Amino acid sequence: ATTRYEAETAPATCDGLIESNHTGYSGTGFCNGDNAVGAASQFTVSASETGTATIGVRYANGTTTARPADLIVNGVTVLSMSFEPTGAWTTWATKTAAVQLDSGNSTIRLDPTGADGLPNIDYLDLEPGDTGPPPDG
Ligand code: GCU
Ligand code: CA
Repeated sequence: ATTRYEAETAPATCDGLIESNHTGYSGTGFCNGDNAVGAASQFTVSASETGTATIGVRYANGTTTARPADLIVNGVTVLSMSFEPTGAWTTWATKTAAVQLDSGNSTIRLDPTGADGLPNIDYLDLEPGDTGPPPDG
């Protein structure tokens, strides 16, 4: 089952402000990170099993320019993501990625690499991965 981690709910951290001025978010608000390199949104997730998990990051980018970020798992940069424009700050989209997680807690940090910082971040969904192939059929 998918577990949702809201950006505004500790132990998640936001290098900026938790805001609620753009509608359409889940929970009580979203992370408006500072517009700066390294102004991160971080989640602590719990994986039920070791394997390839799928994360879904819900975000809004009301500008016309994509915002890139590194995805850092337990301090290790594992991939780069690009958060393309969504058309408006009130229009939210979900970007997915596959990440390898060990069972137990991990930190997942979205670390912007551009001077615009992150898009607004609503939540991170975690779908635990498969440990093997699906059965035949
Ligand atoms: C606007 C918008 C914010 C957003 C910011 C940005 O100020 O209202 O929600 O975070 O732009 O460019 O990052
Ligand atoms: Ca911002």
